[in-house]
Amino acid sequence: MDTWEQLAAQIRTCSRCPHLAASRTHVVVGLRPQLLRPVTLIGEAPGAQEDMAGEPFVGRAGQLLDVLLAESGLDRTSVAIVNVLKCRPPGNRVPTRTEVVQCRPWLEAQLEILDPRVIVTLGGTATAWFFGAGRKLSEVRGRVHRIGRFRVVPTYHPSAALRFGPGGLPRAALREDLKMAATVAADESGEDEIEAGLW
Ligand code: URA
Repeated sequence: MDTWEQLAAQIRTCSRCPHLAASRTHVVVGLRPQLLRPVTLIGEAPGAQEDMAGEPFVGRAGQLLDVLLAESGLDRTSVAIVNVLKCRPPGNRVPTRTEVVQCRPWLEAQLEILDPRVIVTLGGTATAWFFGAGRKLSEVRGRVHRIGRFRVVPTYHPSAALRFGPGGLPRAALREDLKMAATVAADESGEDEIEAGLW
């Protein structure tokens, strides 16, 4: 077993949030490609379909994500996909602060192993994980940030892109930001905006 699989095995038995451990069907560990330092997408938490399938982003938001990835020259074989929470919050509510704190070491350990060239945070929960709860997505999106040793591209969640429709700002922004992440990943020497980070 490699280190990712060893970690995955630990995550699958997690019961740090007893209520989530009791209500989940599957722990959704995430996907990583057989690539070194893959672009890594971070979502919020599994929804109903992900909880059933045990895989991230397999529902409607995931289908849109696949389309936008393809338009950006990326696809599921070239990116890792993980979530802030590995278990579905019942009723798809937003994760609580305590749940995020309890689950934090798992995502930290995943990022250690993945060592991504660039991270894309999808939506408010994943963006807050890096930038802190006080920062609004609108303040930070549209550029590459250096947070500790990571380059981070904060953007909208695909469910916002679904909600606002094909002509809405989130879909165009998400497409643009995924392209930016693909470019940064292809050119490691690119100039970044340097920001004081929390990492
Ligand atoms: N939304 C997320 O944030 N993650 C998933 O895996 C699915 C939907």
